Amino acid sequence: MKGEAMKQVVAADWEALRGKAVEAMRAAYAPYSGFPVGAAGLVDDGRVVSGCNVENASHGVTLCAECGMVSQLHLTGGGRLVAVACVNGNGDPLMSCGRCRQLLWEHGGPGCQVMTRTGPRTMVQVLPDAFGADDLDDFGASRG
Ligand code: THU
Repeated sequence: MKGEAMKQVVAADWEALRGKAVEAMRAAYAPYSGFPVGAAGLVDDGRVVSGCNVENASHGVTLCAECGMVSQLHLTGGGRLVAVACVNGNGDPLMSCGRCRQLLWEHGGPGCQVMTRTGPRTMVQVLPDAFGADDLDDFGASRG
C-alpha cells in the first residue's frame, strides 16, 4: 500500500505520540531556561519521529524541539507529518511557537493535526493565512 491509500489508514494514537514526546523531552538540553520540550510527529507512512530542544549560551541560537523532529523526519526517509504532539516538562501539551508552526506548515501542510490543551486542531486553524511554498510559486507564475 502506498501514497493516498496509506495516508487514509494512518490514524493518530495521541497517547502513544505524547509518550514519545515525553521521552524526547527527557533528553532536552535546556540549562538556560530550565524549560525542557519534546516533540513527536506521526509520518504519513506510520513512522514516528521526535526531537527535543537544544539551548545555547548564545540564547538566540537555541533549537526548538520541533527543529530536531523535522531534522529526524528527513534523516529517516522524509514524508509528511500528519499529527504532532509537543509537551512541556510536565508532559502537558505545548503550543508550538510561531516559527515552529511555520516549520510544521512546511512539512505537514494545512491538514496536519497538532495537539493543544483543548484537543487536536489542524495547522490551518493554528496558522491561518499561512505563508508557504504556494506563495513563491504564485509569484514565479505571475512573472512568467
Ligand atoms: N521551545 C521549543 O522547543 N518549542 C516551542 O515551540 C517553544 C519553545 C523551547 C525553546 C527554549 O529552549 C525553551 O522552549 C524556552 O523558550
